[in-house]
Amino acid sequence: MQAAVIHRYGQTSPVLETVPRPALRPTDVLVKIKAASINPVDLKIMAGELKLLLSYRMPLIVGSDFAGEIVAVGAQVTQFQVGDAVYGRPRKNRIGTFAEYIAIDPDDIALKPQNLTFAEAAAIPLVGLTSYQALHDLLNVQPGQRILIQAGAGGIGTIAIQLAKHLGAQVATTTIPRNFELVRALGADRIIDYHQEDFAAVLTDYDAVFDTLGGQSLESAFSVVKPGGQIISISGRPNARFAKAYGLPRWKQVLFHLATHRLSRLEKQRGVHYQFLFMSPSGQELAQLTRLIEAGQLHPVLDRTFPLQELDQALTYSRNGHAQGKIIIQIA
Ligand SMILES: NC(=O)c1ccc[n+]([C@@H]2O[C@H](COP(=O)([O-])OP(=O)(O)OC[C@H]3O[C@@H](n4cnc5c(N)ncnc54)[C@H](OP(=O)(O)O)[C@@H]3O)[C@@H](O)[C@H]2O)c1
Repeated sequence: MQAAVIHRYGQTSPVLETVPRPALRPTDVLVKIKAASINPVDLKIMAGELKLLLSYRMPLIVGSDFAGEIVAVGAQVTQFQVGDAVYGRPRKNRIGTFAEYIAIDPDDIALKPQNLTFAEAAAIPLVGLTSYQALHDLLNVQPGQRILIQAGAGGIGTIAIQLAKHLGAQVATTTIPRNFELVRALGADRIIDYHQEDFAAVLTDYDAVFDTLGGQSLESAFSVVKPGGQIISISGRPNARFAKAYGLPRWKQVLFHLATHRLSRLEKQRGVHYQFLFMSPSGQELAQLTRLIEAGQLHPVLDRTFPLQELDQALTYSRNGHAQGKIIIQIA
């Protein structure tokens, strides 16, 4: 099969190679991938930026989510059958969706929403699960709560705004004027042009911030949230609490503790709870998203679609950092 492969960290242009089709374990399904999506984590993995959290053997097929059709099921699989249209986010040591086939644990997939094409469905798994885990599982967003979602026009932002509205929240978001119409249509109540306005100066007493930017934006988020409120970051630094819960060795916990002392100080000063989220694959939660999508509560926002042969251009486009929603790779 054709697959996009890197042979070492730092190789930021994967090469399309012919590799063997993945072997099917008795507990796996084999999926013929129709479409995949680009996620910034793909760029970070290739650059070797996540080595403290995820380390991979080389050569590595890249790509973190997909939609496709099951073409074989392992002897022990009961919940799916050949011909099922599915989508999913493989677990961390089994990525590789920029390829014609993937063997995957059925716990990591769900039936594709019937009202979406494969390309549309491929836009959902990683950003949908991340947003669901942040807003539903961790923040437990309640009707009437006020939340700031950073980067509303991005892959995460376009889904997170819709989910937060579905949960009944009042949503503020940051973006550039070109995207105002888009984020308004998704449900944003307060839109901040981050080149013109400092969100930390105009938003106060929020219940929560969903931070997708990290760095100074994350630190500034502490002045937006009221005491007792919460900040979830998916781009900031993992703290020691996260490192412990994630099962990292003691020396990494210490490293993360030292790297986040400013955030710990802000937590204490402001009486705000900070958590780093590293999303996890979950077919069960993806099935919840399927229900929301089929009920018309949630829809993917697609920017551009590239064929697998133009993966490099798609990655460059993603690296530029101004996509409106998701960038899709059409594979079959
Ligand atoms: N920890 C996890 O489990 C996890 C999971 C998923 C994603 N992430 C991380 O979350 C981040 C966002 O992911 P994504 O998929 O949404 O990325 P993305 O689709 O590439 O986000 C691009 C968007 O960011 C916006 N943007 C850039 N700079 C901005 C700023 N200063 N203020 C507001 N908006 C800004 C751009 O909008 P404009 O054109 O308006 O600038 C663009 O729409 C990435 O760093 C990714 O690695 C982490």
